[in-house]
Amino acid sequence: MKTISIINLKGGVAKTISAANTAHILATVHHKKVLLVDNDKQGNASKLFGLHSYDDMSITDVLTNRSARLVDIIRPTQFAGLDLLPANMTLLQANLQIMLDTARQRETRLKKALQTIFGQYDYCIIDNAPDINISVINALAASDYVLIPIKVDNFAFDGLKELKEQLDNTREEINPDLCLLGCFVTCYQNNEVNQQGEEWLRTQADYPLFDTHIRRTEKVDESTFASTPIMVYSRRCGATLDYLKFADELLSRIDVLSNSDKKEG
Ligand SMILES: Nc1ncnc2c1ncn2[C@@H]1O[C@H](COP(=O)(O)OP(=O)(O)O)[C@@H](O)[C@H]1O
Ligand SMILES: [Mg+2]
Repeated sequence: MKTISIINLKGGVAKTISAANTAHILATVHHKKVLLVDNDKQGNASKLFGLHSYDDMSITDVLTNRSARLVDIIRPTQFAGLDLLPANMTLLQANLQIMLDTARQRETRLKKALQTIFGQYDYCIIDNAPDINISVINALAASDYVLIPIKVDNFAFDGLKELKEQLDNTREEINPDLCLLGCFVTCYQNNEVNQQGEEWLRTQADYPLFDTHIRRTEKVDESTFASTPIMVYSRRCGATLDYLKFADELLSRIDVLSNSDKKEG
């Protein structure tokens, strides 16, 4: 299983849309076994698949309850090959509780839980909150790869430096293999601001940029109201075509990296 964190310290940059739709495409188009982890108290990824609830266990239990078993918490979605670990507002309290609990390691709880289902999935995609809290650090500790969605506007690059520092710290202290797979532009509009933003990103060696950007398409907003992945809502819209291309590029980037790891090892 390869684990990928989707992260940006900013909200509204299409983290959830990208996590949910990439997971859906890997499962339904590429026939991979995929676990989507909702690691945001807002629970938007859970809502998108109709699995937001306060009655069932959630990622909160994974992080705070030593005896909770991940297999009992993961829920199937309506799509073959795609399961979800849900989140809800209790994750807010969980973040505080973990910080107060010094009896066991705080940063590696999600990683340990994911190890129990390692053989059952090809990919685990983690949708993160726009924050660096202990549950986000748990995600970074558990991840092989990081993806940063960027929506180009006036403040698009705020927080990138802080995020990079956090990735470096995580690498030094808990997860030496954590790899920044790249950034990708979301909500792309064919205007000067977006073109210049993308050009600028292309020159930043620290932030490798995906060739594929995701076009802004009204249908994406509509798909969230319909609680449906974009590919199901509109098979031919720009965002669907772009997410399909993005998933191809993601798989080939991971392929190149894992082959070069094999050669080195
Ligand atoms: N390609 C797109 N085209 C149009 N709207 C989009 C696109 N991607 C995301 N959005 C919209 O942007 C908003 C924020 O997306 P979301 O994934 O929830 O961001 P985040 O998880 O980073 O906060 C949502 O209303 C979503 O519908
Ligand atoms: Mg979100």
